Amino acid sequence: MNKKYAVPPFKIKMVEPIHQISRKEREQRLSDAGYNQFALRSEDVFIDLLTDSGTGAMSHFQWAAMMIGDEAYAGSRSFFRLESVVKSITGYNYVMPVHQGRGAEKVVIPQFIKRPGMIFISNMHFDTTRAHVELAGAKAVDVACKECLDTTTYYPFKGNFDLERLEHTIKTVGSENVAGIILTVTNNAVGGQPVSMDNIRRTCEIAKKYHIPAIIDGARYAENSYFIKIREEGYEKKTIHEIAREMFDYADVLLMSSKKDGLVNIGGLIAIKNDTDLFRKCQTYIVPMEGFPTYGGLAGRDMDALAVGLEEALEEDYLEHRIDEVRYLGDKLREAGVPIQYPTGGHAVFVDCGKMCPQIPFDQFPAAAVANELYLEGGVRSVEIGSLLMGRDPETGLNRQSDMELLRLTIPRRTYTFQHLDFVAESLIHVYLRRNQIKGLKFSYESPVLRHFTSRFTPMP
Ligand code: F0G
Repeated sequence: MNKKYAVPPFKIKMVEPIHQISRKEREQRLSDAGYNQFALRSEDVFIDLLTDSGTGAMSHFQWAAMMIGDEAYAGSRSFFRLESVVKSITGYNYVMPVHQGRGAEKVVIPQFIKRPGMIFISNMHFDTTRAHVELAGAKAVDVACKECLDTTTYYPFKGNFDLERLEHTIKTVGSENVAGIILTVTNNAVGGQPVSMDNIRRTCEIAKKYHIPAIIDGARYAENSYFIKIREEGYEKKTIHEIAREMFDYADVLLMSSKKDGLVNIGGLIAIKNDTDLFRKCQTYIVPMEGFPTYGGLAGRDMDALAVGLEEALEEDYLEHRIDEVRYLGDKLREAGVPIQYPTGGHAVFVDCGKMCPQIPFDQFPAAAVANELYLEGGVRSVEIGSLLMGRDPETGLNRQSDMELLRLTIPRRTYTFQHLDFVAESLIHVYLRRNQIKGLKFSYESPVLRHFTSRFTPMP
């Protein structure tokens, strides 16, 4: 058999029926939702590609592990099991669970801020990370490599830091004013694009040189490790475990949304290499924020499921199929001429809607308009990663223009089959064929913070 795309290394034991409502019903539901994909009910969605976060399927080993969760408030057996797995993967000394990634951000980020006016530098802050940096009184600066802006040219590691801009920024503001360097692996906002080991190493060397903590935002670290294995010279023969360990060796702290590469529906992690002082501060802070340090907002059974999921996410056959699903959808779209971020990254296909619908100005949100068309076409839900998400400049009040207007088709883990992806591709290709007729959106209500979640729109006439 042609093994161009890896066959799923699992079979399906439990199913959840899905159902497609009629076009007429979709029109009504979308209008009721104020033309905002986040306001749709999931029952009105046929194939849900809004996010890969907490939306995957657990294995029977994970479900079995849930049955032996220890629900003790303090010192739970489930915690020690999880702690031991995280230590074995990262080599770090201190581990604390949290309810999800932003819980980790909320607890850890303020600890690095010593005075007003400090900045964090990242290859790209995820939106909640940026929000926690700003809530804590610091500024978030992004220094993604310029290759990520060119969606059509192949470059193996479009998630990389621009190392020159990184060092230049540190020198400009003064290293004492840099609270931390956040390495987002994979780099979600530019297309789930991986960061090379070479770039991770050099970034962390710069961090060390200037005595700045290097923090890995590792929501999708396993996917990043797999890309290093298949795309970076010298790593072909290493195991995913070895690659992940090398990555963690260079850095100081891990913040993780375990709803991605932890293969669970809820959960997050803080892991600290050896900064005992930082650990003690977080330990104090986590109690009122998330919960006692040995559960951090999770049930004991959640920690057991996570302990198993973390290991499963590092299995090579799992990762091969996972990454191939994304590549499969990307290839189908590209063959039909749909402009996408190429090559595809780890968790999603990103459609370049700035290119697809140049008639729609950035402040009428081309990717959100295409998302609505895709929902009308096939009941497929997707998400805008562009100027709508960017929000307004807090100083000028003007709409910030994103470098790219992307539509993210995010693939939940172990959830949809290749046939589902065929359907998604066909639906989007139909939308693409009538791309010239797609109109932008205007606000009928604009929410003041994180506006993409709760704003309402009307289509332009
Ligand atoms: N960091 C990255 C890189 C993320 O992608 C996310 C979440 C978080 C941190 C926050 O984690 O959701 O568990 O609190 N990303 C999701 C997404 C929501 O759809 O990309 P969380």
